[in-house]
Amino acid sequence: MSTFKAPKGTYDLLPPDSAVYLAVREAIAAPARAAGYGYVETPGFENVELFARGVGESTDIVTKEMYAFETKGGDKLALRPEGTASVLRAALEGNLHKSGNLPVKLWYSGSYYRYERPQKGRYRHFSQVGAEAIGMEDPALDAELIILADQAYRSLGLRKFRILLNSLGDAECRPVYRDALQGFLRGLDLDEETRRRIEINPLRVLDDKRPEVQKQLTGAPVLRDYLCDACKAYHEEVRALLTAAGVVYEDDERLVRGLDYYTRTTFEFVHDGLGSQSAVGGGGRYDGLSEMIGGPALPSVGWALGVDRTVLALEAEGVALDLPAATSVYAVPLGEEARRTLFGLVTELRRAGVAADFAYGARGLKGAMKSAHRSGARYALVAGERDLADGVVQLKDMESGEQQAVALAEVVDRLRTAR
Ligand code: HAM
Repeated sequence: MSTFKAPKGTYDLLPPDSAVYLAVREAIAAPARAAGYGYVETPGFENVELFARGVGESTDIVTKEMYAFETKGGDKLALRPEGTASVLRAALEGNLHKSGNLPVKLWYSGSYYRYERPQKGRYRHFSQVGAEAIGMEDPALDAELIILADQAYRSLGLRKFRILLNSLGDAECRPVYRDALQGFLRGLDLDEETRRRIEINPLRVLDDKRPEVQKQLTGAPVLRDYLCDACKAYHEEVRALLTAAGVVYEDDERLVRGLDYYTRTTFEFVHDGLGSQSAVGGGGRYDGLSEMIGGPALPSVGWALGVDRTVLALEAEGVALDLPAATSVYAVPLGEEARRTLFGLVTELRRAGVAADFAYGARGLKGAMKSAHRSGARYALVAGERDLADGVVQLKDMESGEQQAVALAEVVDRLRTAR
């Protein structure tokens, strides 16, 4: 071990476990890619104001958890705590919304940073795969995104997740609800900080996990009773489309998300095997965000799924992904001449698209065969002086144990189709 350790709240992804993370990222992205979402990549840091305005000045993410810093040049930046504000900024900057091809559908995958109190499932550096549909108000898009996330989790073999669904209303009806909620909350017995929160972000008080707060919240006005007709109709349509698609969800009128930009549809994917950090993914509609960051009106919807927590959910359910071995052929030379010949063969195999590896260093047959087994390769190529003199190598099927001599000139062709 070196003097250094990974910083608090972070961890490294190392083989063989890292292969699972990679597979999870790919599995989450696959349904979105197949549904017309194009890949977008944005910088790991942005102007701090983008998040202050986008995610919200009163959110924990911005006030407590952001890695904000000033550069030597005097720029005020922040490591990205989430992807939506960045992706929308990039789409606007790249004029994608002017292409006459709305919605702009984008997916992304990357690292995000929040200065949170670390615990299992909650890290300071974590990974998300996200998808955003920008510039269109259509309940079918909200439904599409939820269906795609559901498909992603199912394709991984996850079953014990639930979809929580809510509508947060819009610029017309939410302020009315907010007033009513504030009126109710001001009458409760709450501490200083919570009382302050009532004035800045009353909906977040509903999310307070403390039993003494939750107890007082029975009888609080619920947003559902305040939704305007347009929001109600929109929400009903999203629900109907999900039901028609056979996607099971739970109405959760208490679901408020930790980011300020949401309007109308909000949802969370929770997994029951994860303890307190149960949200494996979340998202919703953010019709006002573009204007909040200085753009035109562009109603949009999206989600981000947490890669770290999805991997924990797989572990919790005991799901082992069926990952193909990275290496198909493992070459084991016996002697100097064989080294040169087999190394050449490995290079040829790789150029022909066959995943091949080689026993490096001066190892004996036993140690090298051990490495061959560990690599997961289906075939081993073994050759010594005698084989080379005969113009052959030994091709060993690692599954059946069968071995046969194959002419040197035919090896690549024989293995081209091997898996
Ligand atoms: P979020 O709910 O803040 O939403 O994060 C989405 C997911 O990222 C969470 O459900 C969780 O799985 C994972 N996550 C968040 N924080 C951590 C952490 N500290 N450690 C491990 N995993 C974490 C957003 O970020 C929105 N941008 C989603 C969205 C996209 N809304 C619209 N479009």
